[in-house]
Amino acid sequence: MFSGRGSEKLGYMVSRLLKCEYGRAIYKKFPDNESYIRFLSSVEDKDVVLIYSLGLNPNEYLIETLLSVKTLRDLGCGKIRLVIPYFAYARQDERFNPGEAISIEIISEFIGNMDIDEIYTVDMHLHRYRDISDLFNIPAYNLTAMEEIAKYISQKYVLNNPLVIGPDSEAEQWAKIVAKKLGTEYDILEKRRIDEYNVVVVARKRDVKNRDIVIIDDIISTGGTVIESVNALRKMGANKIIVGCTHPLLVNNALRKIYSTGIFDLIGTDTVPSPVSYVSVAPVIAKALK
Ligand code: R5P
Repeated sequence: MFSGRGSEKLGYMVSRLLKCEYGRAIYKKFPDNESYIRFLSSVEDKDVVLIYSLGLNPNEYLIETLLSVKTLRDLGCGKIRLVIPYFAYARQDERFNPGEAISIEIISEFIGNMDIDEIYTVDMHLHRYRDISDLFNIPAYNLTAMEEIAKYISQKYVLNNPLVIGPDSEAEQWAKIVAKKLGTEYDILEKRRIDEYNVVVVARKRDVKNRDIVIIDDIISTGGTVIESVNALRKMGANKIIVGCTHPLLVNNALRKIYSTGIFDLIGTDTVPSPVSYVSVAPVIAKALK
């Protein structure tokens, strides 16, 4: 098991669960910002798992994933299983404006051509592409953290007549899993994106008055979606609001802005290290690899 920058702890936790060796490696930057990677543990004839999340620094991490995989192969390892807990670039899955790159296709092709045997990710933003295997020619697995998030929520909070809410139609797939696990119902809101920072959210007619709400999304980036959702639900008389997501990117002041809405709590997972990464996806990844 090796893990890249930012994925050290998650990789180590998975290696403990799998009872496999956590390999020694050096990941550093040259003064001119080029990446330097050196594997110190021997990999010859050993199957290797590389965990490299693409949160917050996707361009550098992609290049370092490529350098890692090619080097491991060159050093004579057996199978290479690449785990990308947060798969960046998946939201640009269509040419929304003329001339745009359809990033999900290009990045998937780039990763698929790295000479890996299998790929794993967690709650990939699959919307226009419904199935991860439509993007790869090798075995590809999209795992979910939603059951772990639901488990955490049910153990930590006492909820009164809860309703799970997905902020948009994409989030229905995740809200459904959490609602099932909590033994309650779910609904979605209607979201219109204006630009990368601003969205408009319209609540549907469902009665949320005096109910505790669990907002569930895959990614929180600028926090715009969550903040608009909280405001819309508040206007409709929602009671306590808990927000959960798999990938807490929380760019710029997102954390402060979300807390300022007066939500009860915010939780995320360790696919992206953050101050709210309370839920670990290590058991989900370890189980899949096993
Ligand atoms: C997009 O549809 C995703 O599921 C998230 O809702 C979105 O990425 C959140 O971004 P932000 O926090 O910037 O609104």
